[in-house]
Order: sequence, then C-alpha cells, then structure tokens
Amino acid sequence: PRTVIRSAAGDLEIGGVSVADLKADYGTPAYLLDEEDLRARCRDFAAAFAEADVYYAGKSFLCKAVVRVVDEEGLFLDVCSGGELAVALAAGFPPERIGFHGNNKSESELRRALDAGVGRIVVDSFHEIARLTELSKQSNKRPGVLVRVTVGVEAHTHEFIATAHEDQKFGFSLAGGAAFAAAAQIIDEDVLDLRGLHSHIGSQIFDTSGFEVAARRILELQAQIRDARGVELPELDLGGGFGIAYTTQDDPSTPGDLAKRINKIVESECELASLRKPKLSIEPGRAIVGPSVFTLYEVGTVKDVDGIRTYVSVDGGMSDNIRTALYDASYSATLASRQSTAEPMLARVVGKHCESGDIVVKDEFLPADVQPGDLIAVPGTGAYCRSMASNYNHVPRPPVVAVRDGAARVIVRRETEDDLLALDVG
Ligand code: LLP
Repeated sequence: PRTVIRSAAGDLEIGGVSVADLKADYGTPAYLLDEEDLRARCRDFAAAFAEADVYYAGKSFLCKAVVRVVDEEGLFLDVCSGGELAVALAAGFPPERIGFHGNNKSESELRRALDAGVGRIVVDSFHEIARLTELSKQSNKRPGVLVRVTVGVEAHTHEFIATAHEDQKFGFSLAGGAAFAAAAQIIDEDVLDLRGLHSHIGSQIFDTSGFEVAARRILELQAQIRDARGVELPELDLGGGFGIAYTTQDDPSTPGDLAKRINKIVESECELASLRKPKLSIEPGRAIVGPSVFTLYEVGTVKDVDGIRTYVSVDGGMSDNIRTALYDASYSATLASRQSTAEPMLARVVGKHCESGDIVVKDEFLPADVQPGDLIAVPGTGAYCRSMASNYNHVPRPPVVAVRDGAARVIVRRETEDDLLALDVG
C-alpha cells in the first residue's frame, strides 16, 4: 500500500502508525488496512472509468466500514448473497446503487433484494428468471435485470476462479443459444426490465485480451437481440477480475490502461454493428481492496529441516489466508519489526494449523537471524483472505484494523473463543 514506509528505526509503518504500536494495541495476527490507499484505489477506478459505473465486488472483502468508504467514494456495490446485502443495507448503502449476483439466489434472497429496491439483479438461470418473475408480480415491482452470459473465453488463471469457459456453473451459454433465449424471455416478461448483458471471465487476470474477446462476443449477441427483437439494450457489464501484484513477478495494468483498452474495443464493436454505445459497468474487487491490506503475524518458531528448508511458523495461517493452500497462490513476506543485516535465507512461512498444506508463503528470502517474537508482514491480503477466513482448529478470526493519518481503528473486531463457543448448543 502507498502509505507503508520503513521508519528510521527500521520497523514498518502503515498509515503513520508503527507495526510495534499496532501489535501492542491489537495483537497478531491482524489484517492492517491502509484506508488512504483503499480510497485512492476507488478514486483511480472511478476516474479511469469516468463514463462507466464501477461496482466494488463485495465478495473480496466486506464490512460496514468498507461499505461506507465505497459509498463516500461514489462507487456502486456488487453483492452476491443475502448476507452481503444485509451488510450493505446495515451500513446505509443506497440500494439503487447495489447489483445482486449469484447462481442460486434463494426465494428469500430475491424477495429481500426486491423489497430493498436494489438497482439491478444479474440473473443466472431459467429457474431464477421464473422465480424472479413470480416474486416481482407478487410484490408489484419491476426490477432492472442483466443476463449473465458465458462468453467462452478461457481466462489464464487458476481453473477454480476462471468462470467464462463453457463447462462451469455460471451464466447462460452464448454458443449454445441459452443467452439469447434468456434475453428474449425477459424482454417478453412485462414485470422484468431487461437492462443489459453481463460477462465475468475470471479473476486475477493479467492478459487484457480476454476482456476484449468477451466484449466483442457479447456485443455480437447484443446486435443479434436488436435484429431479432428490435431492442437495443442500454447497459453492458464486463465484470471484474483485474489482476494485482502479489510478488515482484506480477505486472498488472493500471485502471487507466484497462479503461482505454476496454473503451476502444467497445467503441469499435459498436461501430461495426451500428449499435449505440451502452453504458458500461465493471466489478473490480481484488484490484480495489487487495493491495490495501497486509497481514501482520508474529513468528513463534523457526525450524531448520535437515538443511533442506527453514520453516518459519507464524500465529495464523490457512484460517486467515486459504489462498496459498487452495489456489497455490504466491505471496511475499517481509520482516516488519526491524531491519536485519543477516544473510538472506530461503524460508517457508507456515501457519499454526494441523496440516502440512498450511502454508502462507511458499518461498521467501528472510534474514537468517529471524527469530520468535519478530513480526512478519504479508502484503496483498485485502481480497479473499478475511472474506474466506475460517475457524479451522477453533482459531478465532483476526481483526481488521484501518489505519489513516497516524490513527488506527478496528473495523472488524477479533473473534474470541466465546464467539466460537456461542454457536455450540447444549
Ligand atoms: N464480478 C463477478 C460476477 C464475480 O464473480 C467476481 C468474482 C467479481 C466480479 C470480482 O472479481 P475480482 O475483481 O475480485 O477478481 N476466491 C478467489 C476469487 C473468486 C472470485 C469470484 N468472483 C480468489 O481468492 O482468488
């Protein structure tokens, strides 16, 4: 994050507060959020995509304080469950700026979205269209609807987070004709207001050509709908998925670059098909909140295993960051509490959970004198870490502490063992 510096004393500072003070006040592990950085990322996307609506993808990380930041910075909000919707509404986010996603929204979730008056619902199946039609009639509402289209792009990312190749659960297939049929059905349904098409091709994507192919294919469908049904859909959502740098090897595009490429391809495709340019929207999650957070851990043990590798155990692990175990994700780590002149040594930063796959950072050079009591920072943990955290081994989930201008405040408190026990009945 941009307000992280190393102080003259050698320790890291975030938002003007030293990690030693943060550790003393909030303990470890803790997610430390650079609020100025988060706000700057919101503004960067809003400025780069000035003619588009930028929906922050709440699944990457959501709590009331972040909802308020997103609101204050003028973004829209994408939620994908009743729980995320509840957080958004509890924080007072304007419902008309909320988009509701999900491949299996329940009747009660849809009803709550209708009651709240969310701006749009992205439909994902024929069953959902039928369900939403019925509920809209019952509640006398006419929701704005987008059709999620599977455009058949193989995004170059981990298989589990790539979502637009054909054989997966999301969206209506473009190639198979389901996307056209879904749009046609909604156009015929008076109680639904079809506003446009939607495509999300995957996550942590660096190669922007995937977005270009997706935009081209989806605009072809848009032209087909116009030709067959005489309707020019006014909106187009190209989803999120913009990659961030987890290590020095990653080289992400800036929001400005992305906006230029996406606008260019949309404009040229619209010209080709004589379509009016639809109002664009995007849904970045990771690229907004990911880089704004680092996790602060304390080292508990250092173990040299037969000269093969040194294992540095920290006081968290796969319960606060499952991404390394789940996606073979790469992270980096830095000694945060001091500077050392010791030789670098190849280390593996591991957690405290009862399995050997509990790895936080696979390979990192740490100073050879790293020892218990040292603090380690793992950057880039703002997205899909707290939001995917678990209580594995009954380890309470860490707090999220927002730091800005020399002041820190807890925005999600640390879980306690009492919190965990509170769910046990009897
Ligand atoms: N829009 C839709 C419809 C999505 O499904 C997603 C993410 C996004 C936007 C936001 O994508 P982002 O800009 O954050 O990449 N747990 C995985 C990522 C799963 C992403 C799911 N959908 C991970 O930790 O990498």
